[in-house]
Amino acid sequence: MISGKNLHALSRLCVNVYGRTAKAILFFGLLVLCAIFIPPLSSAQSPAASTADRTTTKPFDSPGLEQKVNDLLQKMTLEEKIGQLVQYTGGLATGPTSGRTDDKDMIRKGQVGSLFNVTGSRETNALQKIAVENSRLHIPLIFGLDVIHGYRTIFPISLGLAASWEPSLVEKTARVAAQEASAGGVRWAFSPMVDISRDARWGRISEGAGEDPFLGSAIARAYVRGYQGEHLNAPDSIAACVKHFVGYGAAEGGRDYNSTEISEHTLRQYYLPPFHAAQEAGAATFMSAFNSLNGVPTSANPFTLKQILRNEWGFKGMVVSDWTSISELMAHGIALDGATAARKALRAGVDMDMTSNLYHSHLEQLVNSGQIPQSDLDEAVRRVLRVKFALGLFDHPYTDEKDESQTMLRSESVAIARAAAVHSLVLLRNEAVSGSPMLPLSANVSSIALVGPLADDARNMLGSWSALGRDQDAVSLRRALTEKLGASRLVYAKGGTILDSSDSDIAAAVQAAQKTSMTILALGEDSPTMTGEAASRAWLGLPGRQQELLEKVVATGKPVALVLFGGRPLTLPWAFEHVPAVLAAWFPGVQAGNAISDVLFGDAAPTGHLPLSWPRLAAQEPLYYNALNTGRPASDPEHPDVQGDAKYISRYIDAPNSPQFPFGFGLTYTTFRYGPTQADTKQVALTDLQKALADTGKHPTLVSVSAEIKNTGARAGSALAQLYIRLEGTSVAMPARMLQGFQKVALAAGESRKVTFELSADTFAFWGAENKFAVEPAHVTIWIAPNSAEGESTTLEITGTLQ
Ligand code: NOJ
Repeated sequence: MISGKNLHALSRLCVNVYGRTAKAILFFGLLVLCAIFIPPLSSAQSPAASTADRTTTKPFDSPGLEQKVNDLLQKMTLEEKIGQLVQYTGGLATGPTSGRTDDKDMIRKGQVGSLFNVTGSRETNALQKIAVENSRLHIPLIFGLDVIHGYRTIFPISLGLAASWEPSLVEKTARVAAQEASAGGVRWAFSPMVDISRDARWGRISEGAGEDPFLGSAIARAYVRGYQGEHLNAPDSIAACVKHFVGYGAAEGGRDYNSTEISEHTLRQYYLPPFHAAQEAGAATFMSAFNSLNGVPTSANPFTLKQILRNEWGFKGMVVSDWTSISELMAHGIALDGATAARKALRAGVDMDMTSNLYHSHLEQLVNSGQIPQSDLDEAVRRVLRVKFALGLFDHPYTDEKDESQTMLRSESVAIARAAAVHSLVLLRNEAVSGSPMLPLSANVSSIALVGPLADDARNMLGSWSALGRDQDAVSLRRALTEKLGASRLVYAKGGTILDSSDSDIAAAVQAAQKTSMTILALGEDSPTMTGEAASRAWLGLPGRQQELLEKVVATGKPVALVLFGGRPLTLPWAFEHVPAVLAAWFPGVQAGNAISDVLFGDAAPTGHLPLSWPRLAAQEPLYYNALNTGRPASDPEHPDVQGDAKYISRYIDAPNSPQFPFGFGLTYTTFRYGPTQADTKQVALTDLQKALADTGKHPTLVSVSAEIKNTGARAGSALAQLYIRLEGTSVAMPARMLQGFQKVALAAGESRKVTFELSADTFAFWGAENKFAVEPAHVTIWIAPNSAEGESTTLEITGTLQ
């Protein structure tokens, strides 16, 4: 039961109201939704703080901090200053040292500012003790880690979390990650990864929030709030590291580490916003990237690191390079030797060298010879010290060892993991079988065949970058279904491995399907090897013989529900035509099996929506909904039914234009009817928008846009109302649609509700021809829609002339 005490926490967890309004959710609907979909949290789970009392949005503004930084800086020798800019991975120093012993000596001498991949309160405390007690100035180390979607309690992969479209839920997961990581001595997460990607071939699309800057910004802010908490210096807060700055997700051909060419307009309008949102939310650190951007590697790029990040955005925290991305400047061809690479990176604004060892080796000589001004070095050191002071490391350098184990996998954290996993699942297809939709399944089903290499695979449920997650913490689908149905009603056949199946594996699976009343197939990618870093794919079908396995099981004529695991959308046109139910599960984390079972059997309804466009075939990539209209927009004769984004772009002669499923798409167990979109005004004066934009405070509502949404089915459910706009008549071409708001609305069966989006000047501002974010006179089309390809629109005019 939900107690009054934890109701507020639950409400924040399970219903997202995002965009420009919080009007549309009523308390009762909230209660119903929570009761249906979310396992109750204990009252120990405190509500997330309101943004008003946070210090983390300006983590470096606390009184006296700058003074402390400068006082310390004055006492430092050149060697000690350089030491603060050096980071090694624990136990595997890539520099002149080869093991812990030498690391310790370097720490003692003040030659190391940070270590990562060292975890555990005992281990971190032991090294911290050397820094704090044995180094001359007692400057603490900062321990970092790739805490990407959890530390020990592993949540769905980031793409799955984004599919929830619930920043408040993402914030909860990041808060748990912060509590666990800090209990393990780690005060710095190399997350959030906020790279926009429009190309599912890129393996790291799994680590981000998909293709859209508005959704990506909302999710980016949520991670920062979750990691950094109310006060960055609280012992359970950790510094966020926003990465990879910038453009990394636009790798040519979707090949990881590849070069990127992005115009300034596209960079500002689409790729930078999530970074800026995270910085405005107070992110303490950034990570530069591997890619070159318009010919200049991003780990030596003064335009992005200095002009944009420091000067325009006023970022006061530190920038760490990516792993050896400073030494890679030589491979990029902009440095012939390590000294030049170090000089270019530091002068461009990279404060800390992750494992290249080039700052350690060359900065002294570079400063002494005047090739790096002392002021540049001091500035970098100041930034590192600022973060350490803001984290409270000087006052509390150690971690309480007795808290560590009891902080891990707490029951309330596992409950959040289950809720997050439920909310990450996207129902892509649910056709009728014997007159009613295939899902949800009845718990009274006589027998089920569970088939597929991912059905009993706990390891894969964790996804890539699973920090301290352990296989044994994860609930496989087989385990959950066995608990739900009892072993006697479940017939399991693996059907081979992800990469290979023998004829007899497939035959056994077919036999299992034949002798049961229906089959659940668990197919997809292998998360460690096929998703994440250096795991780009040119072909996005099912690996191994899984397609054959699928077709043979379907050929039995028994109903099939396909649970698809992957770090990206997979191109399965056959399945989307022949398999009655398909659920995109991504990699759902420790509660994978339970969450999938909850949704398959209707204990929870699916509420996830795609944070990216789902391609029909890999050759459509890059594929994204917010494309520009072309001069010769093509309708799609092969898919005349598909409207919206698909009709705006030019087409191939031998492949459809449209995605398999558009951005924002997701089904549930009920249906919704969206009424016409209505705006409360038909005209907005340009001058009013300009005045509002010039004001640094909160921008007022200038237009209210609403639509009636009716639950037309027989079950309660949650609709994701998405607000899109199009601007025409502007100085630069703007996309056929762009997301500018979203709200999840819980509706009882038959219930109607008016959802309202309150739009301010920000909604209409864009990076225009004058190289700034501004508003212009425009014809505006506005949709409140269930996804990026549907919905009814209204229009308004922004009137006036540009001076
Ligand atoms: C390389 C990856 O690109 C980055 O995301 C990660 O944080 C670092 N390695 C550290 O592991």
